[in-house]
Amino acid sequence: MAAITREENELLVRTDAGTPMGEIFRSYWLPAMLAERLPEPDGAPVAIKLLGERLVAFRDTEGRVGLLDEFCPHRRVSLLYGRNEECGLRCVYHGWKFDVEGRVVDTPTELNPDFGKTIEVTAYPTHEAGGIVWTYMGREPVPPPFPDFLFTRLPASHVLGYHYRQECNYLQGLEADIDISHPSFLHSPIGEAPIDKTREAMGVDPRPRGFTRDEAFGFQTIWRWNTPDPAKALYWVDPFVVPCHTIVPAGRTKLRYIWHAWVPIDDEHHWLYYVHYDPDTPADEEERRTLEYNFGHDLIDPGIEYRSRGNLENMHLLDRERQKHENFSGIRGIAAQDVAILQSMGPIVDRSLEQIGSRDVLVMHLRRYLLDLVRKQMAGETLPALDGTVAFPDIDSRMVIVPADTSVDQVLARREWKWGEAALAEA
Ligand code: FES
Ligand SMILES: [Fe+2]
Repeated sequence: MAAITREENELLVRTDAGTPMGEIFRSYWLPAMLAERLPEPDGAPVAIKLLGERLVAFRDTEGRVGLLDEFCPHRRVSLLYGRNEECGLRCVYHGWKFDVEGRVVDTPTELNPDFGKTIEVTAYPTHEAGGIVWTYMGREPVPPPFPDFLFTRLPASHVLGYHYRQECNYLQGLEADIDISHPSFLHSPIGEAPIDKTREAMGVDPRPRGFTRDEAFGFQTIWRWNTPDPAKALYWVDPFVVPCHTIVPAGRTKLRYIWHAWVPIDDEHHWLYYVHYDPDTPADEEERRTLEYNFGHDLIDPGIEYRSRGNLENMHLLDRERQKHENFSGIRGIAAQDVAILQSMGPIVDRSLEQIGSRDVLVMHLRRYLLDLVRKQMAGETLPALDGTVAFPDIDSRMVIVPADTSVDQVLARREWKWGEAALAEA
């Protein structure tokens, strides 16, 4: 099957200001960072790069988060060195001071007290929800309605959020999230390793089928595996939400859902957000430790800007003994396995060189969907999910084992079907 052309690839991977995908990303609220990076008012500012723009984030005396151009408008010194004090960030070179909205509130070197009013500073609006600082980097004076995904409305005790700084283009990550045949291999245990029914089905059926249904928020992906019992099939429902989010059924964990975002830092780096949540069950300490071990989140090191300690230099801690006896990849942790293979492709993969197979159907759907967004953006047409009509809290994923002759539309329609472990136990 034809892959996409080099020109189409370029359209999809470039996100600096002025590029079509860059303008698409700038039309939506995006996660900027975990809120834990700004733990206290008047604390240290944090450098953050998004969509190729170097920014500085700070929490002011009132607890509000500002997100400004990193460089002081006076003589372009980095505000990362600034003093965060009395409701503003003050440049240490000549003392000019900026508030969270980007107003120049003090220019002590100038006689005219109104001098600062003439100066424009790039400042993006922020919103804190679900343990994340979000921002809107678009051109509209009024941002679109906030995408209040279910986890952003839950008590903090029901949410465990992580993020990874990744050394490659965002699309490599996003594509992996809807790559239906990779879990049967990359995330597979082997040998004597404990196995659950999901993994069992994936192991039995290396050729799952993928389906899509377009939705106002993006599209649903539906994954179907045969199971060891020929009368039953395993289905995943795994939505893609514009511009870069998915919700994945977590399976054998107390927190049944995982929300992902793949946010460009620049063309060769991105942030992967991994938010585990459950509306019914809070996370306890044991669950946190189990998740961190099983997904590899314990390898994230805030000291190296939230990179994983598994990296290209150490081949992501691949252990050949583990690869022989424990799991397919030799790498511990589901997220760590994804991180490894995505980075191994290099900073920006040239998709025109790929040999696309029959199981890449959802990945190709994503590419065509994004290319259609590019076309819409260039034609000045309306982009999806910006008009306030999408009910973000209702977008969910699920995993069910059902009679093998159940149709995709039945799976999508039967919301009352039990999920996760409950469904597996009934199978
Ligand atoms: S460079 Fe910042 S105040 Fe002069
Ligand atoms: Fe994966």
